[in-house]
Amino acid sequence: MPNYLIAPSILSADFARLGAEVDAVLAAGADWVHFDVMDNHYVPNLSVGPLVCAALRKHGVSAPIDVHLMVRPVDRIIPDFAEAGATYISFHPEASDHIDRSLQLIRDCGCRSGLVFNPATPLDTLKYVMDKVDMVLLMAVNPGFGGQSFIDSTFKKLHEARQLIDDSGYPIRLEVDGGIKIDNIRLIAEAGADTFVAGSAIFGTPDYRATIAAMRAELNQVGHRHV
Ligand code: DX5
Ligand code: ZN
Repeated sequence: MPNYLIAPSILSADFARLGAEVDAVLAAGADWVHFDVMDNHYVPNLSVGPLVCAALRKHGVSAPIDVHLMVRPVDRIIPDFAEAGATYISFHPEASDHIDRSLQLIRDCGCRSGLVFNPATPLDTLKYVMDKVDMVLLMAVNPGFGGQSFIDSTFKKLHEARQLIDDSGYPIRLEVDGGIKIDNIRLIAEAGADTFVAGSAIFGTPDYRATIAAMRAELNQVGHRHV
């Protein structure tokens, strides 16, 4: 069984109590902190930047921070996030003029690199940069907002991405972001995902520990892939 990881998205946390919220979700069994960065340009919403990432590190957060850039351009801000304590930095290929260079920049800054694919973005780019990618992130919603519904065509794309990753032989994580809940996480895992972002499904419930435990119980039931 893959090493399944659960990454709550802080977008649905109570921002007035962000440090305590992140502490709580990690104490409740989360593996990573998913950190959504929006610029009101690449996506129609505005969220948080490197200052907040650095503040979480200063607060004492030691878990991996999974920075999901929904900004354009990306190169200017990558070193700032590395400096702020990011572990992974992922970006959308549409948001960089030179994708290969941006991936290298992330690694040169000491972080792990991720490439994010919107629901209607083909995986073509990925084939040429597999040696420079540590994580593939498939969006199961159009980026910009939490609380949207999972788009079913993601399942087919997950199979394709899993195949590409397995064929490459590189240890690339396969993450899914958007609309993940207790009742669909198992199917998403069976389609090939190993890392699960969930915002509203975790922060929208009163008992984070119970929700994450229910997600893990579903992951423990994962059977053969529905190919
Ligand atoms: C959407 C963000 C997601 C979002 C997920 O643009 O990238 O990380 O917070 O939220 P849920 O889990 O509520 O769909
Ligand atoms: Zn995200």
